[in-house]
Amino acid sequence: MKMTIIHGVSALLLLSLFIISCASDEDFTDNDTPSNPTTPGEGDDIIDNVLDLPDTPFNYVNINLPNHYNAPPINNSDNTPGNNPITDLGATLGRVLFYDVNLSANNTISCSSCHVQQAGFSDPDRFSTGFEGGLTGRNSMGLANAKYYQNGRFFWDERSATLEEQVLQPIQDHIEMGMELDDLVAKLQVLDYYPILFDNAFGTPDVTSDRISRALAQFIRSMVSFDSKFDAGVAAVGGNFNDNTQFPNFTAEENQGFQIYFTNRGNCDACHGTAATISPEARNNGLFLDYPDNGLGNVTGNPNDNGKFKSPSLRNIELTAPYMHDGSLASLEDVVAHYNNGVQNHPNLDNRLRGNGGQPRRLNLSQQEQAALVAFLRTLTDNSFITDEKFSNPFIGD
Ligand code: HEC
Ligand code: HEC
Repeated sequence: MKMTIIHGVSALLLLSLFIISCASDEDFTDNDTPSNPTTPGEGDDIIDNVLDLPDTPFNYVNINLPNHYNAPPINNSDNTPGNNPITDLGATLGRVLFYDVNLSANNTISCSSCHVQQAGFSDPDRFSTGFEGGLTGRNSMGLANAKYYQNGRFFWDERSATLEEQVLQPIQDHIEMGMELDDLVAKLQVLDYYPILFDNAFGTPDVTSDRISRALAQFIRSMVSFDSKFDAGVAAVGGNFNDNTQFPNFTAEENQGFQIYFTNRGNCDACHGTAATISPEARNNGLFLDYPDNGLGNVTGNPNDNGKFKSPSLRNIELTAPYMHDGSLASLEDVVAHYNNGVQNHPNLDNRLRGNGGQPRRLNLSQQEQAALVAFLRTLTDNSFITDEKFSNPFIGD
């Protein structure tokens, strides 16, 4: 791959001048031997001027998942629809779209502005800044293991019925990216790299909003996180674990935290279950007695749904602070303190967080036990996932 380093705010202008000059420059040669038969040789130069993509696409499809991911109930909770399976070239297009500021009205914001790989694809800021400087109403969500949310609904309040529907929402959101889909299609169609990438992914160069949606959804579904210290521990004990498991690669404190999480002591896995730490549905975890934002209740109009929110997978949770739909808990210590003795008696508080007599459950964990639970949560950090090039920004010079 050729390297072109471009700095500063004039990057886009320079980039387009560069492309125009290269397109008419007969001396411009490509030293790479194209090895991907589906990429026309002619298109390689156009792509290589803008994007650092491998000649053979990254592997998004045939992931070598550990056994504990290939077993039920995790593999039964995959929300991939039959008509949009992941392909390597589809996810490649999705990756380019995800990092492209052209998806915002004034070319300032991409999906990755609010979903940062090093932060588990969440935003370290409590609320994210949109294309004109406005703030989002909720905290940005980590995207790892989105494909395993079984009911397939997206956003904290589950307002999108599918991921394919969800990915087009931020583009059209007046605070986030501010585009009309028709305008976006027209804009992408004339960027010379997109017809090639759409052709590779879908067989013809046509840019459509349906294809944009499919490619983005494929890329996000490919983001499975399975290479943490916890996974190494599960593999070390033969791919399976139960309440009594002691992981040989864990400290005593991490093993203690694991026990609290997966046994009745903490019962976290009742809502953040399996090795994928996924949730089955939106629930009320007693964050407030009176919610300023009613989440699912606003969507269904049913008061019994007030204060119910989905939780993303807890994979990489150490990196996705701040926490909860409103980012109101700054640290994992704050989260554990909430579950320990801060759960509020909201009428819709989930029964799993109620103790005898129906009152909010008090775990009465010692300081040491709380620290152990946090230590376990940190074993869910996956350094391969947050540095994997196939999920990184492919734009040269960004
Ligand atoms: C300006 C910041 C911002 C931008 C840009 C943005 N997002 Fe988000 N994203 C958020 C916030 C905030 C939420 C949670 C919003 C809510 O639930 O109401 C979210 C939620 C999501 C979710 C839901 C995850 C889940 O588990 O339910 C997905 C998927 C997602 N975004 C993908 C994208 C994609 C794809 C793009 C680009 C097309 C994008 N986002 C652009 C801030 C942003
Ligand atoms: C009754 C189900 C339930 C139980 C039990 C439960 N949680 Fe949660 N958890 C949720 C819900 C729902 C949310 C999202 C709530 C919100 O945003 O308002 C959440 C959010 C979180 C988050 C923040 C996620 C993010 O991306 O911001 C963490 C961390 C977390 N829980 C850890 C735990 C731990 C540790 C335990 C055990 C002590 C636990 N949970 C027990 C339902 C539960």
